Amino acid sequence: MTGDRDRLEEPRTDGGTAGADEVALDPWGSSTVSDYRKLFEEFGIESFEALLDEVPHPHYLMRRGVIFGHREYRDVVEAMQDDDPFAVLSGFMPTGDPHIGHKLVFDEIIWHQERGGDAYALIADLEAHSARGLSWDEIDEHAENYLLSLLALGFDPEAGTLYRQSTNRAVQDLAFELGSEANYSELQAIYGFDGETDVSHMQSVVTQMADICYPQLETPKPTVIPVGPDQDPHVRLARDLASRMRFFGVTTAYASFEATAAELEVVRAAYHARETYAEEPTTPRCIEAAEWLAETGVEGLAALEGGTEDTAGPEQRTLESAISRLENAGMEPLRPRTRFLNRRATAEAFEGLIEAVEGEKRVFDEHVDAFDLDRVAAEDLAREVELEYGGYGFRLPSSIYHRFMTGLTGGKMSSSIPASHISLLDDPAVGYDKVKSATTGGRETAEKQRELGGKADECPVYELYAYLLAGDDDEFAKLVYDECVGGERLCGDCKEQAAQLMREFLADHQEKREEVAELLEAADIDLESDRRG
Ligand code: TRP
Ligand code: SF4
Repeated sequence: MTGDRDRLEEPRTDGGTAGADEVALDPWGSSTVSDYRKLFEEFGIESFEALLDEVPHPHYLMRRGVIFGHREYRDVVEAMQDDDPFAVLSGFMPTGDPHIGHKLVFDEIIWHQERGGDAYALIADLEAHSARGLSWDEIDEHAENYLLSLLALGFDPEAGTLYRQSTNRAVQDLAFELGSEANYSELQAIYGFDGETDVSHMQSVVTQMADICYPQLETPKPTVIPVGPDQDPHVRLARDLASRMRFFGVTTAYASFEATAAELEVVRAAYHARETYAEEPTTPRCIEAAEWLAETGVEGLAALEGGTEDTAGPEQRTLESAISRLENAGMEPLRPRTRFLNRRATAEAFEGLIEAVEGEKRVFDEHVDAFDLDRVAAEDLAREVELEYGGYGFRLPSSIYHRFMTGLTGGKMSSSIPASHISLLDDPAVGYDKVKSATTGGRETAEKQRELGGKADECPVYELYAYLLAGDDDEFAKLVYDECVGGERLCGDCKEQAAQLMREFLADHQEKREEVAELLEAADIDLESDRRG
């Protein structure tokens, strides 16, 4: 199903700090990422740390760097700050028991719900059936277990929404519409699909795209999708499709002609330098700008922007094409304006937009230029008109990414290796034993440990503290860390403490699962499927 190119790297023994291998993300492959920094460089995931200070009362998973990356999460942060509507949604493939790795996502959904977000959790039963071949009976059993744990951890099913993909008609309808903007070649490039891939598997992809946009179906709003980085290909495609569904694109322009984004940069530079060349600086002419650009050249522009001649300016090709556009425009004045491009609007919707633009405007075949509207107002107007004329007006969905937990036996945590993870359904005594037999970052002997300190950064037991056992108590997490690396903490005692905490956590969680059983019965979600196949 997937090509080698799309497969994730095997875990490396160096902890993923060295080397320059390629990273690829595969939603149906092994969930290991050996070098998180690469995700920033190669895929454009942004660092969460840089945004942390702006998040009101960040969750401990954010504070401890477990949530390490995001796409446009600022949109959601701003909504939280301003008390504006926002949503959170994530989905679970019911392929086995929910384990402590899934708990991270449950906690992320619940945290956003507690902060006033519309919260959605879905059971990806179509995906489990088509991509993993699970029977409907197996799916039902696992689905219920996921939902009980989600509720036991604090999800409020009355305020939030639970659904399964197979019975949500609105999601299926939306999937169908989004599918009109994606084609086979694209799925092939993203997921490595080939001629052998089931059509149902492809349908499960557009279904996930619809899941991601679903919270915005009634009203567009900032929406965050908390997931592991293996799901990033889905997030990117969903962002692309959400944008392709939009009726209008909004950009800035300086004259009536259309320009590429790179050309626009060049034209902008020429506009800003107008004082230096225009006969009449209030009305710089396109032709004057063209002459100035030709004289200034690539190096000159680079020096302008960066202040030194070493900065890369525009490419020669871009400069030349921008110049020729300006030459063609001749005596037309250069004047900044906000441009609405007609991308997908009906004739009526385009007419409607033209009417709705206030102040000075110029109408062209496929775009309208507005001279008295700023970008933000223009974006709002474009969305308003789109909604009025039967479009969706989606905002680009945001995402946050958490690190995968290391398996208790080293390597990756995997649902198919029981000793590598702790299931939320494990008997508390079994959970205790699994922690006691876990791999550690300790030294060979107690003496060496006292002398050199333990390697908490490479220790699955420390991860248990940081990701789960220390809960909200940063001081406790830090104490474990400091004592470990300072050589004051020895692995035997450390594991004993962790094992006891794990036992307590599981006992408590399982008691809560029983308490919420009725709540789940009452919730608006089918626990049994009547599907065949
Ligand atoms: N593909 C996800 C997984 O493998 C499940 C999923 C389906 C999902 N729809 C989603 C995740 C929407 C986030 C958002 O676990
Ligand atoms: Fe891990 Fe604890 Fe040993 Fe440190 S002392 S290496 S945290 S088990």
